[in-house]
Amino acid sequence: MQIDIVTLFPEMFASIFTQSIIKRAQDSGAVEIKIYNLRDFAIDKHKIVDDRPYGGGPGMVLKVDVLHQALEKLKEQNPQAAIILLTPQGEKYTQQHAKQLATKEGLILVAGHYEGFDDRIRKYVDQEISIGDYVLTGGEIPAMTIVDSVVRLIPGVLGDDNSASTDSFSSGMLGYPQYTRPEKFKEEKVPAILLSGNHAKINKWRQEQAKKRTKQRRPDLLS
Ligand code: ADE
Repeated sequence: MQIDIVTLFPEMFASIFTQSIIKRAQDSGAVEIKIYNLRDFAIDKHKIVDDRPYGGGPGMVLKVDVLHQALEKLKEQNPQAAIILLTPQGEKYTQQHAKQLATKEGLILVAGHYEGFDDRIRKYVDQEISIGDYVLTGGEIPAMTIVDSVVRLIPGVLGDDNSASTDSFSSGMLGYPQYTRPEKFKEEKVPAILLSGNHAKINKWRQEQAKKRTKQRRPDLLS
């Protein structure tokens, strides 16, 4: 998968993409991630990317001509990509979106900063995504969130191919409780069934626990 990210703050991404699983996924060739500075697509010699809003009001608005230029150029070298705009006005992101995006050959993620985008860019994107009902200073953290959640679903990226299938939400429920050593911690023991070696029973117990936990904490997921 090829992922291109357009941002005014390319340096923000380094720490996330040069560590751990996302780094390994790039090293193994499962994904190629490229970060582009929106300013490099500016049309005028002063490299202007934003301007004051028509009609007045606070803040600056990202220019549609610059954004469009970026999308045209990136689409040329990532032709199968879905173009996604990060905005609090988008569809609320869930594990279902992550699964669907993980099947794509490419993604182009557009992170805005400042007050927002010129609305006319919306017609040139395939999807608008919000990572939740709160407002961040820009789309960079949402873009990182999408990359992280999608890349770990690409087959082969997680060491154990099954480990994404036991995630919270992957079966529409929260995950089951996990334990490791020590067996006893401050009077509290690990549930005996997990030490039984009976994998059929363990699986059944885990399913029950996942359901119980979902019912307690996120009944909305069961309805
Ligand atoms: N940009 C600012 N806030 C955002 C959010 N919640 N989701 C996506 N993009 C954003």
